[in-house]
Amino acid sequence: MDAHVLTGRVVTMTDDEAIDDGAVAIERGAIAFLGRRSELPERFAPLPPRRAGLITPGLCDAHTHAAWVGSRHGEYLQKLRGEGYEAIAARGGGIVASMRAIEQATVDEIAETLIARLKRMAALGVTTVEVKTGYGLRRALEEKQLAAIAMASRASGVPRVVPTLLALHALPPEARGDDRARAEYVASVGALVRASRDRAKFVDAYVDRNAFRVDEARAVMNVAREVGLGVRMHIGQFADVGGAELAAELGARSADHLEYVGEAGLAALASAGVAATLLPIASFVLGQAAPDVPALRRAGIRLVVASDANPGTAPSESLPLAMAFAARLYGLSTAEILAGVTTEAARSLEVEAGALREGAVADVVGWDLPHEDALLQPWGTGRTTFVFCGGHPL
Ligand code: NIG
Ligand code: FE
Repeated sequence: MDAHVLTGRVVTMTDDEAIDDGAVAIERGAIAFLGRRSELPERFAPLPPRRAGLITPGLCDAHTHAAWVGSRHGEYLQKLRGEGYEAIAARGGGIVASMRAIEQATVDEIAETLIARLKRMAALGVTTVEVKTGYGLRRALEEKQLAAIAMASRASGVPRVVPTLLALHALPPEARGDDRARAEYVASVGALVRASRDRAKFVDAYVDRNAFRVDEARAVMNVAREVGLGVRMHIGQFADVGGAELAAELGARSADHLEYVGEAGLAALASAGVAATLLPIASFVLGQAAPDVPALRRAGIRLVVASDANPGTAPSESLPLAMAFAARLYGLSTAEILAGVTTEAARSLEVEAGALREGAVADVVGWDLPHEDALLQPWGTGRTTFVFCGGHPL
């Protein structure tokens, strides 16, 4: 494998200070040297350095629904006219509309769409992407999405993919208003989780009013834990129905959204060490207030920032946009945001990534920007100059 030398201001996301006149050398997929440019070992001297204003770890997007196909632009116009997300979903739009698109598409088509999307994410500096299912809502279709995610993750030139099974995303249309069909669906998801232990790393569930109840999610997540899969949860996006307490009880890796989680829920998350994944693009699109960030800080909860890329509530693929919104709308500091898209995101996904140190896997991004604070500004514009994932240029 080729060796590469990169130079610029290096932000490592370890305890070490940023290095203004820094250099990173990549060899055999790992970071072989990290330090001052003047201290670069002799053997790298012949390599022409690739220069950037700023060098950071590759970004990790810890919450995406990137395996969608089709477009829900019509719903966006409805939202602009003042209609609510839940009302649109109740009429057969929302997640169910994306399910219909998955039903119509082949595994190859879903994978192809996902590969193109992952490459666009990589161009924005993202080298690890969590990808959820959740547009199947039937065992065969959830498995179709899982197969497409696996296929896309093997393609060349894409970021590292972490697959998550989110079969408890919305009630299948045939189960609406039918308690028995609903119970059958939840039971079928338990069986699907058991059968997915080699294809998914995490299981997610959407616990909210108009989604799934705590008892339903608990039943599925107990199977997840039994077969060794990690737990993540969408909670409190529209109402506090006890999702935080359940996430704490289950030892979830992450609880996501949290716009409507109260102090008691936050205390439960804190005591169980559950990270909070903040999704500012979604709350922006839905016109919602931010989660209680000061309370999250007071509780000492680890903060992750993610895109929530999906065709409904966060129709963007851009983690840098989520970073910009985390600063402007949620009041997070540069340090909180950077940790939230590197070390904290990687920790929540249980992947070894997110920090630059000698010997680590070389996920390294160069930016045409002078300083890490400048990462929060270039809204809507990609500013990477190089992106390496596992030592390979993407
Ligand atoms: O994270 N709230 C549930 N799930 C997604 C929305 C998915 C969709 O609308 O397609 C979210 O916001
Ligand atoms: Fe989501």
